[in-house]
Amino acid sequence: MTKATNITWHDATISKEERRAQNGHGSVVLWFTGLSGSGKSTIANAVSHELFRQGINEYVLDGDNVRHGLNKDLGFSESDRNENIRRIGEVAKLFVDSGKIVTTAFISPFRSDRDGVRALFEEGEFVEVFIDCPLEECERRDPKQLYVKARRGEIKDFTGIDSPYEAPDYPEITVRSDQFSVEEAVEQILSYLREKNIL
Ligand code: PPS
Repeated sequence: MTKATNITWHDATISKEERRAQNGHGSVVLWFTGLSGSGKSTIANAVSHELFRQGINEYVLDGDNVRHGLNKDLGFSESDRNENIRRIGEVAKLFVDSGKIVTTAFISPFRSDRDGVRALFEEGEFVEVFIDCPLEECERRDPKQLYVKARRGEIKDFTGIDSPYEAPDYPEITVRSDQFSVEEAVEQILSYLREKNIL
């Protein structure tokens, strides 16, 4: 790949603060992380619905969907996952600059990748949401029948089976998705946003 040269950064004429003021709320990324089948997409979409219902400017970036387009050139090797998360981080930053609350639902298994994304943001803008669910429960749910295939060796490098998942050490929010309902998880996340005066 040839790197671009002769490029200049242009400051936006409308600031993030002005966009936030017009929206009447703050803008952050709700960065969900968790095993396949932990409930990331379900809870992310439920949060999105509730925020939308309240008139909040929001958007969801979802793992499977982004891999159909922007990141369709990437697989599940460690380096491809690094690049997947790096790109999503940059996209999420654009959404935050645009004044939105953006929710991302990617396994994002590596701590260093998530910390790299955190470093792109200003204090308080990156909200790590750990969707905490034991592997046994994710495997019992197996909504896409992926664990069963991974156990049979039909999928290689499957997170939790033959590829690692590094749980966050200090997430802003931990949702025990095996113990609480989707509605309770949504309320937990929205109350964090209210507490931090983002809503
Ligand atoms: S990552 O690790 O953050 O880059 O993964 P992500 O972009 O979130 O994509 C995860 C979804 O891809 C499907 N899938 C796999 N997941 C994990 N490991 C392997 N090898 C794999 N192959 C396909 C799976 O449907 C994941 O979706 P979720 O919603 O997490 O179940």
